[in-house]
Amino acid sequence: ASNAMWGGRFAAGPDAIMEAINASISFDQRLYAQDIRGSRAHAAMLAAQGIISNKDAETIREGLLTVLSEIEGGNFPFSAALEDIHMNVEARLKEIIGEPAGRLHTARSRNDQVATDFRLWVRDQCDAAIKGLDALIRALLGQAEAGADWVMPGFTHLQTAQPVTWGHHMMAYVEMFARDLSRFSDARKRMNESPLGAAALAGTGFPIDRHATAEALGFDRPMANSLDAVSDRDFALEFLSSASICAVHLSRLAEELVIWSSAQFRFVAMSDKWSTGSSIMPQKRNPDAAELIRAKIGRILGATVALFTVMKGLPLAYSKDMQEDKEQVFDAADHLLLALAAMEGMIRDLTVNRDKLEAAASSGFSTATDLADWLVREAGLPFRDAHHVTGTLVAMAEAKGCDLPDLSLAEMQSVNSAITEDIFGVLGVHNSVASRQSYGGTAPDQVRAQIARWKEHLA
Ligand code: ARG
Repeated sequence: ASNAMWGGRFAAGPDAIMEAINASISFDQRLYAQDIRGSRAHAAMLAAQGIISNKDAETIREGLLTVLSEIEGGNFPFSAALEDIHMNVEARLKEIIGEPAGRLHTARSRNDQVATDFRLWVRDQCDAAIKGLDALIRALLGQAEAGADWVMPGFTHLQTAQPVTWGHHMMAYVEMFARDLSRFSDARKRMNESPLGAAALAGTGFPIDRHATAEALGFDRPMANSLDAVSDRDFALEFLSSASICAVHLSRLAEELVIWSSAQFRFVAMSDKWSTGSSIMPQKRNPDAAELIRAKIGRILGATVALFTVMKGLPLAYSKDMQEDKEQVFDAADHLLLALAAMEGMIRDLTVNRDKLEAAASSGFSTATDLADWLVREAGLPFRDAHHVTGTLVAMAEAKGCDLPDLSLAEMQSVNSAITEDIFGVLGVHNSVASRQSYGGTAPDQVRAQIARWKEHLA
């Protein structure tokens, strides 16, 4: 049989494989709430404009509510022959209310309908991502506050570089996740325009009120160009791009947790709630959640590349290619939100081994830069010469198998006679971090100021 929705010009129904490639109901049923919300706004506007009767609009409204409760109750007969969520809802509406159902699609097309539904859905996901990021930022702030003056090694090339504080390290991620949050809120602002009423592509001859439907759906305004409204998916690309950058940040933090919780580092211990054991090695405590968060960027960036590739080269306006937008965004959103929630939990429940951090900070000649800076400040050496002298002292300590503070004054003076007893004051890690008072630096005072700025901002 030919299709009930568009089959007027067809004598025969589609091939089974045609139906399989064409149908999207298996995934776009996730848009049911947005679809029904959009239809209710559209029907109310059609009545207000005198395009359909108030009685029909009321019958449609009640019927849509019945459809909604059937779907939410899990007893809705989804049909692949009806292709997508839009036609499934409308066909069921017709079964329930009869003739007035056929008036709902006046001055509307599935093209503006799907663009509207999907925008509403992605807008909700922006809100969810913002909420997840806010919670994660608060968890990181909690860790930063607890350890604003705990000294740990700062790394470059994963080699000990200079001492930093735990709080400073946590606050670096606060900055990253706060930028992610602002990306989602910027994207949300830009996407918050209504495609509804663009109809198939050219607008409509019916006297519709696009401002009214935009307002009813919480959009700031109607989209200004009907071709653009039905054919662009940059709101989804922006969501995916923001999600990808966020997933990169999550992946880097996850990687640090994996390294830090290893037996070789032992900087942190993940709580039982966020660890798994091994079925063969009884001693194991594996950071699976962190590893999975680290991996999520794979699918999220994959989804991003997939949709960019689908969209490139599509002529205006709608093409069916765009039906492939949804699964990518659904998958990326689901996994981003899960990763954010898991990261928040792990950070909150993390036990930090302060002594291990400090011991590690003190090894690896981490205060060599402080020594060189002292030579510049107190002995007037040019920095390049001070660097060379310090390098010689590091080589000396390395040959002796000790750290810089373990060298005697005489040994140091054998390399440069300007060195005095005072040098030992800058070789300790606490003095080192305390001295880094430049704006944004690692000194505990600076870190506490960073924390205070964020707390004020979030309050
Ligand atoms: N299921 C379609 C999609 O997701 C709805 C729009 C179909 N429009 C059309 N003219 N065939 O894109």
